[in-house]
Amino acid sequence: MTTPHLERVRAALDSVINSRTGQGLLAANMIDQLTVDGATGESSFTFRLGRDDPATLVRQARQAVIAAGLPQPKITVTDPAGPAKTTHDAPQSAQAGVPAPTPMEVPGIGKVIAVSSGKGGVGKSTVTVNLAVALADSGYRVGIIDADFYGPDMPRMFGLFEKPLTRNGRILPLEAHGVKLMSIGFMIDRDAPAIWRGPIITKILKQFLHDVEWGELDFLLCDMPPGTGDAQLSLVQQVLVSGAVIVTTPQEVSVGDALRGAKMFERVNVPVLGVIENMSGFIDPATGMRHDLFGTGGGARLADELGVPLLGQIPLQAGLVDAADRGEPIVVAAPTSAAAVILREIAGLVRQRVVTSGISLPILE
Ligand SMILES: Nc1ncnc2c1ncn2[C@@H]1O[C@H](COP(=O)(O)OP(=O)(O)O)[C@@H](O)[C@H]1O
Ligand SMILES: [Mg+2]
Repeated sequence: MTTPHLERVRAALDSVINSRTGQGLLAANMIDQLTVDGATGESSFTFRLGRDDPATLVRQARQAVIAAGLPQPKITVTDPAGPAKTTHDAPQSAQAGVPAPTPMEVPGIGKVIAVSSGKGGVGKSTVTVNLAVALADSGYRVGIIDADFYGPDMPRMFGLFEKPLTRNGRILPLEAHGVKLMSIGFMIDRDAPAIWRGPIITKILKQFLHDVEWGELDFLLCDMPPGTGDAQLSLVQQVLVSGAVIVTTPQEVSVGDALRGAKMFERVNVPVLGVIENMSGFIDPATGMRHDLFGTGGGARLADELGVPLLGQIPLQAGLVDAADRGEPIVVAAPTSAAAVILREIAGLVRQRVVTSGISLPILE
């Protein structure tokens, strides 16, 4: 039976026109599995967003449903063509036609969370380190894979520079602040130009996942290189990734790079747990007033576009850079600072999101 709510949702969706085809979303066959609760008007559907379709359509669809006076719809975005294989921006390993292995859980290493960003310098590594230490402080067993082949900063951020030892053919991770660490930086000269080809990246990641003596972990955080490339693809193919968090800055006018990165995870069924906005204004320690030095709204825009929560806004923190250079994450160096407080909050949310996305995890309260 057609309900008025269903009709309203359908009308709202068909009022959004895909400029590529000139058709409304339903007519263009972009909406699948539409369900609408006749009583509450709550709706959910799958959005078939092709690679050439404007990504803003998803937001427009959400807004159209809300504008029709209905609750925010639950939207799952899929790519009708399936995972990226031969698009022009697909990583080398994909272009080579290498069959994708089925991702599996690696026994003992817990929930794998990828920390990604559209571009470098937004604070991806800073966020990874601090989330890891915050989770370890709450009693979880945590490891980090520094998979940023182009800028492996983790050894410096942890103040760890020695070469990891091996025992019985297995690599022993280094440890600081209660977090185990394996970094590509341990294996290469920091200043050596790192031109890594897809197959090598795959091999190293495999080694980090399978040949490192992690012991038992609850969480393994992966600091990814910026953008969408071989490392991201390799990771999601080799191990079941529980979720990705995307780090961005407030001044991102165009959220394009970060959005493409996030879409890549969605295409391979890795849920995007949320967006973290870093360098989000400066809180004057004297007055407690917030100053938005670099504009506002980048994180919210990206989160909105993706239909995922904005997990938090981390302010620019005086002293963070110096502490990081001494190998001290800000949650350790200045635990009561605004940045540390919000980073711990975000760690709690990430943990919660992993739990609510249906993944079992010991809850320590
Ligand atoms: N919230 C912040 N406040 C102050 N400095 C920050 C903040 N976040 C990151 N930084 C500094 O900005 C630089 C880039 O951060 P980093 O985490 O290395 O970025 P990415 O890994 O994305 O390239 C580093 O010097 C880092 O210490
Ligand atoms: Mg980095």
